[in-house]
Amino acid sequence: MIVNGSPWFDVAGQRINAFCGGVIPADGWWWWYGSHYGDGPRGNLAEVGITLYRSRDLAAWERVGTILPVQPHFEHDLHRGCRLERPKIIRHPDGRFVMWFHLVKPGCSHHSAAAGVAEAAHIEGPWSYVGSFQPDGFMLRDMTLLDAGGGEAYVIYAGGRQCRWNRTLHVSLLARDWLGTSGAWTFALPERMTEAPAITRLNGRFWLLGSGCTGWNPNRLRSAVADHPLGPWYELGDPCAPNIEPPDALGYRCQPANIVTIPGWVDRAVLMADRWCAEDHGQNRHIWLPFSVAGGRPRMSWSECWTLPLVRPP
Ligand code: GAL
Repeated sequence: MIVNGSPWFDVAGQRINAFCGGVIPADGWWWWYGSHYGDGPRGNLAEVGITLYRSRDLAAWERVGTILPVQPHFEHDLHRGCRLERPKIIRHPDGRFVMWFHLVKPGCSHHSAAAGVAEAAHIEGPWSYVGSFQPDGFMLRDMTLLDAGGGEAYVIYAGGRQCRWNRTLHVSLLARDWLGTSGAWTFALPERMTEAPAITRLNGRFWLLGSGCTGWNPNRLRSAVADHPLGPWYELGDPCAPNIEPPDALGYRCQPANIVTIPGWVDRAVLMADRWCAEDHGQNRHIWLPFSVAGGRPRMSWSECWTLPLVRPP
């Protein structure tokens, strides 16, 4: 049973601490990974790293551990106190797991916002940190990855040149090893300051959700569709079911994190989102909602309590 708005616990009774990440099936398990957030207003600064849980049914989650821990050495990109946000993991056709995330090194300004990249032969690790860079010379902030099939993958990120902040969502085709970008990229939703991108392929089209740019505060969500990841992208407006009054009209007070496709589901999926608590990140909440593209439009609807049917990982 999904109870949105309440803290969620793993099978050991500990709070699940894996925010702005995703869920991926592999080797007979569902794997839920995300950023660990601490307590208090500075709990967004990484003190732990990227955590991993596993489940057979998307309901009972067992903590596996920290797969990409922060590092004690000040020179290391992942030094304790960095910002290590919105990790995404996809699996390369050669079997490797590849992780990208939004990295701001400790003590550095938002202008240094870059992609951090890591890879592993097994999702439980050990993970090797590959490095950090600004793809195609752009800052990279809120981001997600798309495995488009056939060995093609994309990074979708809020970015811009130094003076342009994160005004425009970029879509970049990854290099063949998925550890860098290929040089082929496009703009999606230019000058819209879209953050918190989440993307999926359903009914043969690519569907994008995002938020506006108001830091930890909620705002109205937006959506877009394209027939190819490199566009053109068409903006489709607020995906939240109509007739919701403020404050819940503001994206149900959460930001998208990831869209999880489920075997056998044709035009629906599960939206993973985060409800932030800027005063105390120990109070952040996981929000999972039904997502559909029926009728040619993406839709999320609010359910405080709902049950996912038992779905085994493919
Ligand atoms: C949000 C972003 C979050 C976090 C926050 C910090 O816009 O989506 O991931 O970076 O800003 O203010």
